[in-house]
Amino acid sequence: MIKRTYPQTRLRRTRAKSFLRDLIAENNLNTDDLIQPIFIADQSEDKIEIPSMPRIHRHNLDSLYFEVEALTQVGIKSIAIFPAIDAGKKDKDGSYALDESNIVCLALTGLAERFPDIIKIADVALDPYTDHGHDGLLMNGRVENDETVKLLQDQALLLAQSGADIIAPSDMMDGRIKAIRDTLESNKFFDTIILSYAAKYASSFYGPFREAVGSAANLGKASKKTYQMNFANLDEALHEVGMDIEEGADIVMVKPGTAYLDVVHSIKSKFQVPTFVYQVSGEYSMLQLSIEKGWLDKDVMLESLMCCKRAGANAILSYAAKQIAVELNS
Ligand code: PBG
Repeated sequence: MIKRTYPQTRLRRTRAKSFLRDLIAENNLNTDDLIQPIFIADQSEDKIEIPSMPRIHRHNLDSLYFEVEALTQVGIKSIAIFPAIDAGKKDKDGSYALDESNIVCLALTGLAERFPDIIKIADVALDPYTDHGHDGLLMNGRVENDETVKLLQDQALLLAQSGADIIAPSDMMDGRIKAIRDTLESNKFFDTIILSYAAKYASSFYGPFREAVGSAANLGKASKKTYQMNFANLDEALHEVGMDIEEGADIVMVKPGTAYLDVVHSIKSKFQVPTFVYQVSGEYSMLQLSIEKGWLDKDVMLESLMCCKRAGANAILSYAAKQIAVELNS
């Protein structure tokens, strides 16, 4: 242990000027670290603001392409798309998820044509498509694991065929990573990346997202606690991640972000694999609303993202990606 004494050591010396602080900065955030989640819907209006998510919209396909063009202008190169599905197209099995002309498949195909270099991430889970709002098949009041995984395999393959570079299972069924990897390999999608929502907690921070994709009403008072993790647990997250890596995940993700940075740090230290953080809808809305009210300075958003980097995140999904990119560029 080095002995540190004052005044030989004055830690304030390297904090005295802005450029000095930059020189000794241990972490950095730039546009390469940011992934923009985007909501899409089959709607006549170009874009509709989501009431519980200031500045965030649901886009139709034309507006999506416009938005992605704007993102490329500010240096964002990766997007994750999430659909809001018309109530009339939802059913108990989420069968519209497997329809190759659904809005996600159309968006992926359209994006692949127009923006071949942009990294397109597509969620694998049934919740936008089921009339009960769960991520899997509901049988006798229980979300059925193995039957759900079969559907997720088909959904993942369809998304890969439609042009997704990264498949992101967010459903938290057991064994789905292996099953999806096997399906991708046997269909010759050797290079499709699996970004596993490995440590996804049953969190109340997802509220605004569920409103945005329209699953809140379907889910009602039901919870996802039988498949998403208990927020009291850390060891279990490492267990999940270890299994997902073995099953074929290329990248793992922790979700939510800010309140779960101990999980990020532990995963990064133990497994040394690419690890992403999802700063989820509730986190975004809390900060953004406070900024808009003038209760918090706008720098709080950058701070929260930088803290994700400090914890070990390689990249961050954030609804604030675009606005932060604009700031980083200025
Ligand atoms: C669906 C899914 C959810 C989120 C991403 N994919 C919600 C949920 O699990 O209920 C949440 C993202 C956010 O809150 O921003 N499987």
